[in-house]
Amino acid sequence: MTPTNASRTLWRNAHLATLAGASPWGLFAQGALVTAGERIEWVGDASALPAGLVVQAEHDLHGALVTPGLVDCHTHLVYGGQRAAEFERRLQGASYEQIARAGGGIRSTVAATRAASDEALFASARGRALALIAEGVTTLEVKSGYGLSLHDEARCLRVARRLGRELALTVRATFLGAHALAPEFEGRADAYIDAVCEWLPALHAEGLVDAVDAFCETIGFTPAQTRRVFDAAQRLGLPVKLHAEQLSDSGGAALAAGYGALSCDHLEHLGADGVAAMARAGSVAVLLPGAFYFLHETKLPPVAALREADVPIAIATDHNPGTSPCLSPLLAMNMACTFFRLTPEEALHGATVNAARALGLADRGLLAAGQRADFAVWDAEHPNELAYWFGRNPCLRVVAGGKERAR
Ligand code: NIG
Ligand code: FE
Repeated sequence: MTPTNASRTLWRNAHLATLAGASPWGLFAQGALVTAGERIEWVGDASALPAGLVVQAEHDLHGALVTPGLVDCHTHLVYGGQRAAEFERRLQGASYEQIARAGGGIRSTVAATRAASDEALFASARGRALALIAEGVTTLEVKSGYGLSLHDEARCLRVARRLGRELALTVRATFLGAHALAPEFEGRADAYIDAVCEWLPALHAEGLVDAVDAFCETIGFTPAQTRRVFDAAQRLGLPVKLHAEQLSDSGGAALAAGYGALSCDHLEHLGADGVAAMARAGSVAVLLPGAFYFLHETKLPPVAALREADVPIAIATDHNPGTSPCLSPLLAMNMACTFFRLTPEEALHGATVNAARALGLADRGLLAAGQRADFAVWDAEHPNELAYWFGRNPCLRVVAGGKERAR
């Protein structure tokens, strides 16, 4: 091992699921990890630990399961209010689309978000982020999209940045100005897209944007409008991703793939052309079973075609107040298996390494030397249990950037 100035810690008696290498799950039943500062320095079978290893700290994990930290790569965590009354209306027969067209849905959360103070937005988002961390999340994506004005989108993105700083986890901030039509622009969707494209350079200059997203849908924005947002992102060198093919097939995934999208998300209505375009572009398919469940959807995403085309599949909570008030990445993994027939191993890859890829992050999601020291310790005998239990949190410890998170 090369000399390091960073403080070195040995984590021994670990049942490792590294997700690296050719064997299923990358298992080491008698494993050990050595972290140096924020990075993993060594990982493998304990019997192969380098001789003469000097460590500053040591933890005995008593045979507990260790996996890469979970990556929740699609959330709308920052917003005001909640939408339980809308849930009741939907149970009485109103559809999500009807409510949205009548000015409810996303627009009601926009009003609550604009009315909330920065402190209130932070406090509510912080509580939600802590719930995710308690289930092993070490990297989180947060989208804007409930401000819909330069002022309010910036406020939400600043809250996302503050979450990353104060909770010591990685937060990727995605600008989703093209989420819904701002009320000031009623009947003028193209003018609203002009405004979104104008705001982007200012938000980017403030360091608030890691990627740009849009909602390409009959109740969202057209492919032509989505294209204009992506052109603005491309001019700034920002990567794009897209809410695509959630409620209908509008060709959004193929459009996004044409811009080298990091990911296309939802995808229940994705067709063969979209799959092929995503495969060519290397875009990740982010599946969101929480929204599928909560909207009582029946159309399944084309998982077999995605597998066939080698499109990496990720799983996320899509936490948002309208279609997925879910704060459990483990439940999302479970639902990905029950509804979409992913294998438990695919679900764990989907919530770790493929989710990291959906955020453009290559330094996490696997346990391997050189990767970030982000991992979770579980009360489980085998990693297939993570997608098996639901309504139970087997997470014992969370380590992010080499530091243990108080939970
Ligand atoms: O990912 N599809 C659009 N955006 C969210 C829903 C937002 C809302 O209803 O508040 C989603 O499902
Ligand atoms: Fe979403």
